[in-house]
Amino acid sequence: MAKILIVYYERTGSTEAMARAIAAGVKDGGGEPVVKRVEDTSIEDLKAADGVVFGSPTYYGLPAPRMLALFEESVRCHGDLAGKVGGAFAASANVGGGNETTVMALIQAMLVHGFVVPGSPAGDHFGPVSVGAPDRRVQSQCGEYGKRIAALAAKLHG
Ligand SMILES: Cc1cc2nc3c(=O)[nH]c(=O)nc-3n(C[C@H](O)[C@H](O)[C@H](O)COP(=O)(O)O)c2cc1C
Repeated sequence: MAKILIVYYERTGSTEAMARAIAAGVKDGGGEPVVKRVEDTSIEDLKAADGVVFGSPTYYGLPAPRMLALFEESVRCHGDLAGKVGGAFAASANVGGGNETTVMALIQAMLVHGFVVPGSPAGDHFGPVSVGAPDRRVQSQCGEYGKRIAALAAKLHG
């Protein structure tokens, strides 16, 4: 069973709610989700997972500094994460407030590590995004995303 770590930062709950919805999708897709706050996530946690999904609120169009700090720390395992499945999601306050640029910044960093990141021809193309707390549309996008990540991880690592 593919182990999928979902690591997130949040201050007001929206990103955490998305993380839980993605975890439910991972489970539905036959994977084993592990949900952790970024503050509780170690380099060993990243190395132990078959796939890692990173989630952050949008801060000035970018991931929160605490999430970027994990990437900075992750230089210690540079090379060890190559070939794992990766994904990203983000919350913002506004439509056009930078949630997709936040997702893309996370994906950019993941590609440097060599993560394999799936896109989607329908719905949220780059990864789930939410304006404020996830509504039904976002919950559904998160669930589908979790399933897709679990299926790809099973294909690559099962
Ligand atoms: C320092 C700071 C910067 C922010 N920058 C943006 C921004 O550039 N665009 C935006 O739409 N929302 C911005 N927000 C709002 C958050 O991204 C938004 O409230 C998000 O849903 C919070 O997620 P959380 O509930 O998981 O903490 C910012 C909030 C803070 C505290």
